[in-house]
Amino acid sequence: MNESNRHPFLHGLSKHRGTPPTLLVIFGASGDLTQRKLIPALFNLAVDQLLPSCFSLVGFGRKPISDEAFREVARASIQQFSRRPFTPEAWESLAGSIVYHSGDYDDLKAYQSLAARIEETQKKFGRDIQLLFYISTPPNVFECILQHLGHSGLASWNKNTPLASKVIIEKPFGMDLKSAKQLNYTLRMQFDEEQIFRIDHYLGKETVQDLLVQRFANSIFEPIWNREYVECIQMTVAESIGVGSRAGYYDQSGALRDMIQNHTMQLLALTAMEPPVSLAPEAIRDEKVKVLKAIQPLTLKPEGGDVVRGQYTEGLVGGQKVPAYLKEEGIHPDSSTETFAALRFYINNWRWQGVPFYIRSGKRLAKRVSEIVVQFKRPPGVLFTQGNRFDVAANTLVMHIQPDEGISLLLNSKIPGLETRTQPVRMHFHYATTYGSNTPEAYERLIIDAMIGDSTLFIRGDETETSWALCDPILAYWKEQGHTGLEPYVAGSWGSLAADRLLWENFHTWRVSGS
Ligand code: BG6
Repeated sequence: MNESNRHPFLHGLSKHRGTPPTLLVIFGASGDLTQRKLIPALFNLAVDQLLPSCFSLVGFGRKPISDEAFREVARASIQQFSRRPFTPEAWESLAGSIVYHSGDYDDLKAYQSLAARIEETQKKFGRDIQLLFYISTPPNVFECILQHLGHSGLASWNKNTPLASKVIIEKPFGMDLKSAKQLNYTLRMQFDEEQIFRIDHYLGKETVQDLLVQRFANSIFEPIWNREYVECIQMTVAESIGVGSRAGYYDQSGALRDMIQNHTMQLLALTAMEPPVSLAPEAIRDEKVKVLKAIQPLTLKPEGGDVVRGQYTEGLVGGQKVPAYLKEEGIHPDSSTETFAALRFYINNWRWQGVPFYIRSGKRLAKRVSEIVVQFKRPPGVLFTQGNRFDVAANTLVMHIQPDEGISLLLNSKIPGLETRTQPVRMHFHYATTYGSNTPEAYERLIIDAMIGDSTLFIRGDETETSWALCDPILAYWKEQGHTGLEPYVAGSWGSLAADRLLWENFHTWRVSGS
């Protein structure tokens, strides 16, 4: 690829970035995430020549399959899921680096034999390599993987050198505050915090990274980004898909744990935090923790409380009939797991006091859309009235996270003609028009960042704990309530009606998401 047709993503992220020689071990090699996201991401990094010249991928899994069979699986997943087309040349550049290591996660010998293979690879490269462990397994084996990485000496490989081992771990980071603390403790028994990369793939999305740029690289926003000018902030992270093949996990988890505790709280932190003193990872993460800590405890009560939960019933999504959650395969027929949650937060600090933050997320909603809406206060109602009606819309700034990534601003304008009549119009910036539509996937950015040790787009241990501290009382309240207050919604709608009531109490309404 020549420099002139490189995607803007690649500027500043070229092979000159000096990614050290790396051996990546993926635990959970035959899992869904590995097939859909991780292998295709590595393929795209190989296409962009962003992988280090000394690179090796070891798939670690329980299935006893050969290197060749694993390569075939990898090839098929690239053909099916890669954002860029499969080409034999690009595949050949990656295929030679892929091997498979089978073993039980709780068998120390499997890690010892892995260590022996790694030694061989290092010899073959003729230089020291860093080890990057990617834990993409169900959470019940997190602890034993981490402990065996410690016992086999793999966690302390090249310790205290720039090539010290690193570990990327996928959520869930616990099921509540207590288990999150336990996981952090186990992680830190084997690795220092700088070696730990807790992944939240929302942070790797281009539009999410753009949040800080929009806020702090444009002087027009920051002066009005506060309680003086902002009426409310809304965040929607809606999915049209159901639980798919993940019923076992999802039924234990629900919308609050699966999406809100992590992805939406990260969006909230980036939207509401104070300007960091620099773009250094710790500077940004300190500000995120600070704002999360300023969130006021939520009011938990059946009428007029700050939280709402729902579960989908049968309905139509994209014109297709879909079953109720309780009829999905693998879901307990009496489950009270929420597939939709909406929350109202207040942030008790100088900037935001009194401004409601509304958050909603759920499965089997009308469409897949994630957006952040900053709704500004209306101007005084003295001029543009129609009849007796003041007819000027509130300005809204919308960050369209996905799909159709971009930013739009709702303004009032004069309808051409003899009368002075106003109409809201929308100014739109589309990523696809400006930058092209083939934007890199979040995992591409995150994997390469972990390789070079940049933790800016990863979550620090205290961030997860602060976020769990907010969610724990909600989970305890819902547990105590059982089915009471779990409001059904029809699949294909915008979720439980009670979520609308959260806003009506302040005379607000949800923006029609995705419009
Ligand atoms: C994952 C959740 O973290 O994010 C899934 O576990 C969800 O349930 C997914 O479907 C959504 O990610 P995206 O990038 O498709 O919005």
